[in-house]
Amino acid sequence: MINATSEIFEVERAYDLAASRYDGWKWQDFWRAHETPFALNQINGRPSATSNDRLLDLGCGTGSYLLATRERFRDSVGVDVSGEMLSIARRRSPSSRFVHGSIETFHSADQFDVILATRVISHVREWKPVFASVRRMLKQNGLFILTNVHSAHDYASTRLPTEKGAVSASTYKHDERELFEFLQQQGFRVPNYIEIEGDGRCGQNGASAVAPVGWAATLQLG
Ligand SMILES: C[S@@+](CC[C@H](N)C(=O)[O-])C[C@H]1O[C@@H](n2cnc3c(N)ncnc32)[C@H](O)[C@@H]1O
Repeated sequence: MINATSEIFEVERAYDLAASRYDGWKWQDFWRAHETPFALNQINGRPSATSNDRLLDLGCGTGSYLLATRERFRDSVGVDVSGEMLSIARRRSPSSRFVHGSIETFHSADQFDVILATRVISHVREWKPVFASVRRMLKQNGLFILTNVHSAHDYASTRLPTEKGAVSASTYKHDERELFEFLQQQGFRVPNYIEIEGDGRCGQNGASAVAPVGWAATLQLG
């Protein structure tokens, strides 16, 4: 039984319940229109791209990015805590490999040319270990694409659509300055950072005129 008004669900359960509606959700339309072009431009524009490249998508959800980039990578791996989100991703991107589990504990001895983490970090309480492990798994000239809901956006939880009404998934607000300070301490530089406003306008380098809804960044080592 779900309580559509007040209960905050564990992330795994909330996304399991929402999986069948996720790709038709109005917010997914919003990110598809305003975040996806940024991420795909960065992936497709990599000067060092080769036909041997490998992609890791942390919190891959229904696999939109795995599907959109399948021609660009020899190997792609999606990690997600929701089995229902993963079963959709498996159908959409059958050539990818999948790991059902948390990005907080995921480790791979392999290294990747591109690592994606799109709007997943807001569901993770302790993000430092995740970024430390991204640092280990990213190749020296690789690209880390990180996006999130902006801390200035007015939200306390993520309201997701399900067949029986909306449910809330546990969500944390993370201060962008803290995240980027830590990433820089880990050796990352930030060649690109945009803020996405509610009407979809994008401000470069924190130049939003109003409280932004989200942000997207590329990070590289060295
Ligand atoms: C907002 S959705 C984004 C999905 C996908 N990245 C996209 O851009 O469409 C967040 C996803 O992260 C997953 N997730 C949340 N916390 C997670 C965690 N600690 N480990 C793995 N996956 C997680 C959820 O199950 C959900 O599929």
